[in-house]
Amino acid sequence: MPLIAITGTPGTGKTSVCRALGSEYNIINLNAVIERRGFYTGIDADRGCLIADLHRLAEYIRREVENSEKPVVIESHLAHLLPLQPDVAIVLRANPVVLASRLRQKGFPMRKIEENVEAEMLDVILIEAVELCHVIYELDTTNSTVSETASIIREIIDVEVRGERGADVTSRKESLRLRFRPGSINWLKYS
Ligand SMILES: Nc1ncnc2c1ncn2[C@@H]1O[C@H](COP(=O)(O)OP(=O)(O)OP(=O)(O)O)[C@@H](O)[C@H]1O
Ligand SMILES: [Mg+2]
Repeated sequence: MPLIAITGTPGTGKTSVCRALGSEYNIINLNAVIERRGFYTGIDADRGCLIADLHRLAEYIRREVENSEKPVVIESHLAHLLPLQPDVAIVLRANPVVLASRLRQKGFPMRKIEENVEAEMLDVILIEAVELCHVIYELDTTNSTVSETASIIREIIDVEVRGERGADVTSRKESLRLRFRPGSINWLKYS
């Protein structure tokens, strides 16, 4: 089955969008799997988070992809880092000002908010994804609803991995790739 990775700075909306994607996909929250199955090598006391064992996690996902009856969607800010090439990587973005308020609502401490806002401003996850993944889309969630973002993602999955062919699919794919090409968002020019 195809593998779709949905990544992005915390608060950009990965989990919310995946909830809206629905039961057509086998959706896996990597952070939950890391915790539940013990796929970590230690605890980062400074940052208060687990240090993921990406190799064991990738093995687990590889088996899921082999056995799944639906396309597998992995979601996490680590989804692009697995030693496993996804068919498509989708990087969610959010304007840093909006991101800060989403993270406040999520109850993140100030230090974590600042760290994530800075990472979003500097395109940290996008740059990593561009270095590691072959097919990348970049989606701005700032001014759209969760369900609008989910619809675009469904369309992307359709044209990239559904295996449909024909001139119509090719031209839809070209226009989606152009509209959501990586590098089209630059927060620094607004600040
Ligand atoms: N277009 C959008 N797409 C996704 N989320 C949106 C959108 N617009 C607003 N939001 C809001 O942004 C918040 C995103 O939180 P969410 O927990 O889904 O982020 P996340 O990327 O999964 O973060 P984390 O990495 O911490 O798990 C939610 O409150 C959601 O309702
Ligand atoms: Mg989440």
